[in-house]
Amino acid sequence: MKRNFNGSRQPGFYKLSLAQRQAKLEEYGLLTPEDLAALTGKPGLTPEKANHMIENVVGVHALPLGIALNFLINGRDVLVPMAVEEPSVVAGASFMAKLARAGGGFTAQASAPEMIGQMQVLDISDHAAAEQAILAHKTELLADIAEIDPILKKLGGGPRDLEVRIIEQSPLGTFMVLHLIYDVRDAMGANAVNTACERLSAKVETLTGGRVHLRILSNLADRRLVQATCRISLSELSFGDFSAEQVRDGIIEAWAFAEADPYRAATHNKGIMNGVDAVVIATGNDWRAIEAGAHAYAVQKGRYSSLSNWGKDEKGDLVGSLEMPMAVGIVGGATKVHPSAQAALKLMDVSTASELAEIIAAVGLAQNLAALRALATEGIQRGHMNLHARQVAMAAGAESELIEKITQQMIAEKAVRVDRAEELLREWSDHE
Ligand code: MEV
Repeated sequence: MKRNFNGSRQPGFYKLSLAQRQAKLEEYGLLTPEDLAALTGKPGLTPEKANHMIENVVGVHALPLGIALNFLINGRDVLVPMAVEEPSVVAGASFMAKLARAGGGFTAQASAPEMIGQMQVLDISDHAAAEQAILAHKTELLADIAEIDPILKKLGGGPRDLEVRIIEQSPLGTFMVLHLIYDVRDAMGANAVNTACERLSAKVETLTGGRVHLRILSNLADRRLVQATCRISLSELSFGDFSAEQVRDGIIEAWAFAEADPYRAATHNKGIMNGVDAVVIATGNDWRAIEAGAHAYAVQKGRYSSLSNWGKDEKGDLVGSLEMPMAVGIVGGATKVHPSAQAALKLMDVSTASELAEIIAAVGLAQNLAALRALATEGIQRGHMNLHARQVAMAAGAESELIEKITQQMIAEKAVRVDRAEELLREWSDHE
C-alpha cells in the first residue's frame, strides 16, 4: 500500500462525515478498505471469533473509535486511534498535541522491555544460606530458561537477571521473593515470564530448601518505563480572557495540588489514563495491567502522587513530563487476533512495542494537559457538557438530525439534561 500521508495536522477533519474521514485514511494509504471495515465493526471482531477468545461468549461489546490528530512524536507525525466512551477525550488530546507541535511536539523514550516475574518461596529455615545458594547458581538458573521461547531468543529477548528479596514484615513472618528479570521484546510478556517462573520452581526449591508458592508476573513493571516530555511555548497558551502567564501558572498550580494530595492525584492520574487507556484498548492491549502498573508506580515516592510533572523553563515556556510503566505488546494475544487492534497498529505504523509505548505516553501527557488547562481556566464543564450534550440527546431517544438539533438547543439554553432532551424530542418529533 503506497503511503501518501501528509501529516497528523488535519484541519477540518472533525467536520467531515464518518464516511469522508474513512475515505481520507484510505486516500493517505494508511488503511485498506479491509482495515477500515475491521475498524467499523463489520467484519471486525465477530461473535464467532470472540467465542475463541474468552469463555461463555454471547456477543461482542463495541466502543467508539476516534482518531487523535496533530501528534508529532519523536519527529514523526502519527494519527492515534483511541477507543473510549467519554466525550472530549479525543478532542482534548488533539488540541493539546496541536499546542505542543509549535514547541517541537513530544519526545518520548521507552526503556528496555524488561518485565519482572515473581516467585514466592516459603518455609525456608535459613534465608541467608538460601540467598547465597540462589546467587551462586544464578547463571545456571538463567540458562535453564533461555530457550523457552525460541522466537523471543532470536529477537534478542530472554532472561536478564535474578534478584533475591527477603520480606520480613508479613502475616506469614519472613519469606523470600525471587524476581526474574526477563526481556520480552515486542510482547506484553505475561506468558513468557509466567512460563519461565514455573520452569524455575523445582530448582529453586532444591537450592533453597523451601517451597515455591506463587509464580506470576508483577504488574508493577518499573523496569519497563516510558517517559514523554513536551514544551508548550508561552505564546500558545493565552485564550479568551486568560493571559498566557495565567494559563501556564494555573496549570503548574493545578499540578502542585496533585503532587501534594492523593485525593487530587487520583483524579489527575485518571485524566492521564483517559488518554493512555484509550490507545491501549484500541490496540488490543491489557488495560487492567497498565492501570495496575500506573497506580502502583504513582506511590513510589512513599505516597500516592502525580505521574506527571509540570513547570516552566528559563524562557518561561510550559514544560511537562510523564513517566510510568508501560507493558504493552504488538505481537501475540488480542493485539494479533482482534482485527480492529491490527488495523489500529497499522494506522500508527509502529514496528516495536517500545514505539507504541512512546506514543501512548505522549497521548497520556497531552490528555493531562487538556484537563489541567480547562480546570485551571474556565472549568471542565463548559467544554465537557457541550460534547456530553450529544450523548444526553441520544440517551433521550433522539436519532439522526434530531441529535444535533436537540444538542444545540440544550447548549443554547444551558440545560444539558435528559428531561429537557426528552421534552424537546417530544415537541420536535410531533412536528416532523
Ligand atoms: C475526567 O474524565 C478527567 C478529569 O477529571 C481529569 C482531571 O481532573 O485532571 C478532568
